[in-house]
Amino acid sequence: TKAVTIPSLFAMRERGEKITMLTAYDASFASVMDMCGIDTLLVGDSLGMVCQGHNSTLTVTIDEVAYHTASVARGNKTALLLADMPFGSYPTPEQAFANAVKLVHAGAQMVKIEGGAWVVDTVRFLVEREIPVCAHLGLTPQSVHRFGGYKVQGKTAEAAAQLKADALALQEAGASLLILEAIPAGVGKDVTDALQMPTIGIGAGPDCSGQVLVMHDMINVFPGKKARFVKNFMAGQSSIEGAVRAFIREVREGTFPAAEHCF
Ligand code: KIV
Ligand code: NA
Repeated sequence: TKAVTIPSLFAMRERGEKITMLTAYDASFASVMDMCGIDTLLVGDSLGMVCQGHNSTLTVTIDEVAYHTASVARGNKTALLLADMPFGSYPTPEQAFANAVKLVHAGAQMVKIEGGAWVVDTVRFLVEREIPVCAHLGLTPQSVHRFGGYKVQGKTAEAAAQLKADALALQEAGASLLILEAIPAGVGKDVTDALQMPTIGIGAGPDCSGQVLVMHDMINVFPGKKARFVKNFMAGQSSIEGAVRAFIREVREGTFPAAEHCF
């Protein structure tokens, strides 16, 4: 199989083929996902919750993300590899660049940054220096204290308009992918339609260009409260490989997410 690239993700969006993404934190799971044909792998700062047992992502460090990224990179062959810039690692464009380089050295082909207008200059700074950026809007978990919990975002007309304006500004700054998390399905569609870059939804409706789930949610091993957008793909499967293949198939067929997973 040919390696997945940023241009190939744009081509998939153009052809109306759904993009699949799962999070991964180690070489073995990454290898299974890659063998099943996942398009993209994300080393999420969700590792703070699902691997380390913290109740938020806020304590994760750039060196921890780099450690997991290096492991995932060893297990991966063809998926495009993204890694999260954790909380506090991108206060200025210069510091963001220095930290993003650690992730690139670990094997990341794109870094992901949460936030709207305030990260636009940072996105431009990284992209100009050849580090591709995935933006992340909606329920940005690093904003948990301001939000007062993990709550659906973009529910008012004003919030939805702000989200779309942020998405356009991030695209203009050079972002080449956008994660949309926990927003009404209609807003996910509206934002996706307004952009050229592909969008990857998690609780953002079926009309995003692709879908992502946290691996531990997808295989039903996360002990915490389940978000509405989570589906247990181990159900009816006898192996992790079966669950990964079911996720990929349902995203490609458009049967996941169903209405019950959407806001
Ligand atoms: O950290 C993570 O796993 C993420 C995905 C949920 C998009 O940011
Ligand atoms: Na994340």
